[in-house]
Amino acid sequence: MAIDLQWLKRVIERRKKESGEEGIRLHPPAMVKEVLEFLRVGELGKGVVVDMTVGTGGHSLAILQANPRVEVIGIDRDASSLEVAAERLADYADRVTLIYGDMRDAQRLLMQLGVEQVDGCLIDPGLSLWQMDSKRGFSFLDDAPLDMRMDRASQVTAQTLLQTLSAEEMENLFVQAGERRSDARRIAQAIVKERSRSGGIPTAKALAELVTQIKGLRGGRIHPATKVFMALRMAVNEEIDSLRLGIWEGSKILKKGGRLVVLTYQSLEDKTVKETFATLVQPPERGEERPMLRILTKDPVRPSYQERHQNPRARSCKLRAAERVK
Ligand SMILES: C[S@@+](CC[C@H](N)C(=O)[O-])C[C@H]1O[C@@H](n2cnc3c(N)ncnc32)[C@H](O)[C@@H]1O
Repeated sequence: MAIDLQWLKRVIERRKKESGEEGIRLHPPAMVKEVLEFLRVGELGKGVVVDMTVGTGGHSLAILQANPRVEVIGIDRDASSLEVAAERLADYADRVTLIYGDMRDAQRLLMQLGVEQVDGCLIDPGLSLWQMDSKRGFSFLDDAPLDMRMDRASQVTAQTLLQTLSAEEMENLFVQAGERRSDARRIAQAIVKERSRSGGIPTAKALAELVTQIKGLRGGRIHPATKVFMALRMAVNEEIDSLRLGIWEGSKILKKGGRLVVLTYQSLEDKTVKETFATLVQPPERGEERPMLRILTKDPVRPSYQERHQNPRARSCKLRAAERVK
């Protein structure tokens, strides 16, 4: 569904006036300079770039500002993030189209706009700062139900998982997100015990407190519930599958010579990008119709010292890029 930016801007202004709410924390986009360079935004003629995870529009804004001839199509599965992006990009409304949807459906979504092929695709997955503040249970401090859905129209919440998964299933989920097996087991058992004692864990804050009370977890310098929260969020939003499918979709909609840039923030995501790129650089089998890529970054590119210093959130960021050759 494409969104009318001018209309949205008016809705947001009215809502702000009614609620008296001022100022929001916008997500600072990571590695902007490198993203623009790998996408060759400055060199594009009348090009189209798809921001497949537009979020609150930081990267899109930089793309629009870098080249007045480039159009941006921004996709996100979080309708409220799109509202913010619409407001932020309103000055460029004649060159922006925002679409509510999943990047794994990018080709179909673009077809609905009559667009077949584009010059560049950007994937910047995961959670934005805006979403972290949205009281959906993403933050340890949220005295709000454990929802964690990026797309409010999807069915499964973090609460559903905590109520229905067995201790073993939960343990495996936490291990996938990087938790030590022994810690994952103790956390899963504590959750199951609490669930049978009180009927469930009502809020994000309550879950963070429950994990904090387990003695002897090896969290290091990070909050002991960090990986548990990440595991739940990733499962609720099927983030790894979406990322893999998003890379495939991005590759399919690129024209020959078009570029795909993917940012990641943790090892499981980076591994997924590396493996998916490795599949897509193989020549298609005879009769197989699929894109073929050439990798532009042998090793992932990291943020500059200056950026890591200024934006701590970008510290773990890795950029991989590829070009469509077939
Ligand atoms: C890190 S933020 C992107 C920030 C953005 N680049 C900016 O500069 O503001 C990630 C965004 O991706 C969205 N997202 C995550 N998975 C998605 C998917 N499968 N399809 C579409 N959007 C997705 C999230 O809702 C979130 O808004």
